[in-house]
Amino acid sequence: TLAPTPEDRFSFGLWTVGYQERDPFGEATRPPLDPVESVHRLAELGAWGVSYHDDDLLAVEPDRNKAIAAFRKAVDETGLVVSEATTNLFKHPVFKDGAFTSNDRDVRRYAIRKVLRNIDLAAELGAKIYVFWGGREGAETDAAKDVRDALERYKEALDFLAAYVKDQQYDMRFALEPKPNEPRGDILLPTIGHALGFISMLEHGDMVGLNPEVGHEQMAGLNFVHGVAQALWQGKLFHIDLNGQHGPKYDQDLVFGHGDVKSAFFLVDLLENGGYDGPRHFDYKPGRTEDISGVWASAAANMQAYLLLRERSRAYRADPAVQEALRASRADQIAVPTLAPGETVESLRADEFDADAAGERGYHFRALDQLAIEHLLGAR
Ligand code: GCO
Ligand code: MN
Ligand code: MN
Ligand code: MN
Repeated sequence: TLAPTPEDRFSFGLWTVGYQERDPFGEATRPPLDPVESVHRLAELGAWGVSYHDDDLLAVEPDRNKAIAAFRKAVDETGLVVSEATTNLFKHPVFKDGAFTSNDRDVRRYAIRKVLRNIDLAAELGAKIYVFWGGREGAETDAAKDVRDALERYKEALDFLAAYVKDQQYDMRFALEPKPNEPRGDILLPTIGHALGFISMLEHGDMVGLNPEVGHEQMAGLNFVHGVAQALWQGKLFHIDLNGQHGPKYDQDLVFGHGDVKSAFFLVDLLENGGYDGPRHFDYKPGRTEDISGVWASAAANMQAYLLLRERSRAYRADPAVQEALRASRADQIAVPTLAPGETVESLRADEFDADAAGERGYHFRALDQLAIEHLLGAR
């Protein structure tokens, strides 16, 4: 086993280990967990950071000031970084038709006030990322809402909140978290691509990026590694939610690596080599079957899976057979610009090229893929 250290920048939401596992069919299977205990246990396990929803802080102490003081004391004692904060805009019935995009204007105004208050708290606690997961922003029927207007209201709220952060000179950026469905039938900003398009419409889009979650893209049948790569390419991977999912079905929030492990391997390879230096944040659920010892075992399992995959990725890259296979696949050539500096239409047209001969050449991707599998399975 590999021991996580703070340098690995592993972080957990309080709502992950603290999840009581209520589901649509059954009651909670675990009692509420004191955030103070979570902070101490996560630090002992080797985590670097912790994140929270405003309401997570109130799990066992209803008095907001007392709850905040206790949490602050715990992070100070352990040295954990508050890596991210967010607002619960989905639990209370008031948000049943959404928060920033509820048809009810009073609800929209209340939602913005709830976020404003918690941005102040997040800034006090040193959180540099503020996440927006619009779980209730959506609909079950297209009759319910004009989506063009709803997106305009979404933009209005985020522009207003971003302007506030800039006015206050908080060292904080926003990260939008896409999800296709659940709890709404259809959620607005369902995928990484939708969210990137939306950000391009914002007034303060410079401080707004993404917090993509593994399982959410996979619920939509999409390639998470490709989505993350595009977010990186656009300079928009501000944060990430790591977990596991088995394809298109309800949001499983499994331990990282416990879903599509091959995708997880290439994701770790991308995060480690693709210029991402943010938190490695786990947003998972321990599972309804687990008692409290299973909670801590599952938390450790997330970090262990990441470290093992990182080790496998390093071995893969260092293997001369892999390097040779990458060359045979011409994988190195995709980094070469298609046109030479100052190239003209004439010089491009002047190329001599045998399309039939090029069409016969193989790319040897199956052999390369097999090397990845052999490294992933520990056979090399
Ligand atoms: C999900 C989401 C949520 C959000 C979290 C932050 O699994 O549906 O990931 O867990 O990340 O609520 O707002
Ligand atoms: Mn999820
Ligand atoms: Mn998430
Ligand atoms: Mn989640």
